[in-house]
Amino acid sequence: MIEWLSPDQINKLSSDPQKCTQSKGAIRIDMRKPFVPEEYTQLYFTPVYASLHHEHRLRYNQLSGLRINEYIMMLEADLIERLLVPLRHHPRVRDNPALIQSIETMVEEERRHYQYFAALNRTCRPDLYPEGQDRRFSRVPVWTKAMFWTAGLLANRLAFSLWYLMAMEESSMALARDMTRRPETETLGALDPAFASVHQEHMKDEARHLHVDGILIDLTIGASERLRRVVNAKLFQAMLSGITTPTRGGSGVKVIHQLVREMPELTDRKDELIRAVLSLKSNKAFQESLFNRRIMPVTFKVFDQTSELADLGDRMAGYDRR
Ligand SMILES: [Fe+2]
Ligand SMILES: [Fe+2]
Repeated sequence: MIEWLSPDQINKLSSDPQKCTQSKGAIRIDMRKPFVPEEYTQLYFTPVYASLHHEHRLRYNQLSGLRINEYIMMLEADLIERLLVPLRHHPRVRDNPALIQSIETMVEEERRHYQYFAALNRTCRPDLYPEGQDRRFSRVPVWTKAMFWTAGLLANRLAFSLWYLMAMEESSMALARDMTRRPETETLGALDPAFASVHQEHMKDEARHLHVDGILIDLTIGASERLRRVVNAKLFQAMLSGITTPTRGGSGVKVIHQLVREMPELTDRKDELIRAVLSLKSNKAFQESLFNRRIMPVTFKVFDQTSELADLGDRMAGYDRR
């Protein structure tokens, strides 16, 4: 079993402002710079990417960065609220006041993160995010809404979404770390330091959240009887294809529509760009980039220790069971 920090240790850390995510206040974004490493954008994995001009790749990168922020916001606002709030009443959680406190702190921190990322997107592109509109690319599709709704409803019985939550929290940390370690991108020059600074700051709270996720996974899925664990594993694997398959109505294609709107000289290539995004469904390098041991070592260790996830590699291309 992985040794998680105790709820008391987590609470102690979260009371130290040095170890907590703080608002970056008003920041200045340089629109001549890329926002995210190129390998965190979808088209990077397709041959079409190299055929785009510098300014097209740059704008695509920036729009993709906004989309990534929206994705993190979606998790913080929807999944965490719906999953963690009801989990406080779980029979193995409710009598542990220190753990309840860690959960409540985490929910509160995620509400703040949502505001920080919404503000970042608005600073980058006030035209795309007018006051009152935080989402442009990630208006949640019906199936995701249904999944989040089900996750909340079932949270006390089936906590499979906790695996997903842990994977996403850990991968947001990997993105921030990669931005710090390799500020220079492959073809677009140095990342915008202000954009990166919000992600680096975000990492502080997420490092603690990973432990809350771990404790909750052990207490809910881990401590349940075999049949329930099997059902959790099946639901998790079923949920994955919805996450790893880009669709015409999905946020990746919405980024293409926006790119072409802003750069109409690409109109003739719009269908080609959309096809490239949709082709990622069966693109091994792209699929491996979503879930892999480098960006989510702790989550993968949790998967390794879960016997019901022995065939996870069938649905998750980057999973190398150990
Ligand atoms: Fe967060
Ligand atoms: Fe988090």
